Order: sequence, then C-alpha cells, then structure tokens
Amino acid sequence: MSTTYQLLIGDCTEILDRLTQTVDLTFLDPPFNQGKEYPNHNDNLPDAVYWEWMEQICQKIFRIPSKGGAIYFMQREKMPNSC
Ligand SMILES: C[S@@+](CC[C@H](N)C(=O)[O-])C[C@H]1O[C@@H](n2cnc3c(N)ncnc32)[C@H](O)[C@@H]1O
Repeated sequence: MSTTYQLLIGDCTEILDRLTQTVDLTFLDPPFNQGKEYPNHNDNLPDAVYWEWMEQICQKIFRIPSKGGAIYFMQREKMPNSC
C-alpha cells in the first residue's frame, strides 16, 4: 500500500480550517514573537495578541490528530506562557 504525502503551503489558520482528513503528526514551529523579519508576518505583536493567535492555532490543531496522532509544538524556552 503506498502512502501519499501532501505539502500544504499557505496561511496555516486557513489551511487548518479547510482540512477534512485527520493528521498523524503536526509539527508547529511558529514565529516566536521576537522581532524577527518575516516577509508576511509581524513578529513584534503585543504578548496578549501573540498568545491569542497561538491559542487559536492550537485549538485548530487539537481538532485534527488521527488516533494516536502526535503534536510537536516548538517554543522558546524562556517564553512565559504556552498553549
Ligand atoms: C520559526 S519559523 C519556522 C522555521 C522552520 N521550521 C525552519 O526550521 O526553518 C516560523 C515560520 O512561520 C511562518 N509563518 C508566519 N505566519 C504564518 C502563518 N499564518 N501560516 C503559516 N506560516 C506562517 C513564517 O513565515 C516563518 O517561516
């Protein structure tokens, strides 16, 4: 049986909303809100806005794991609060 992999490129919040199938592994390595230059993302958000965005993304991710599926959430060790 062959396995099909799909690379979905785009705004993760939109992609996660469109996903109908379950996912075996989510690797979440978001911007860390540390003032880095990203082409399409402001990495200098007020903390509350940043964590609300992280919470929204985590809620969308918690909806899609397959049975036994894994979520890997990369975050900076010195971040005060995570999902
Ligand atoms: C910490 S970097 C990821 C680094 C990457 N894992 C690596 O190892 O090279 C965060 C990435 O998230 C992307 N990003 C920002 N907002 C996004 C969004 N709404 N949807 C998808 N990716 C986004 C940024 O453009 C940036 O490339």
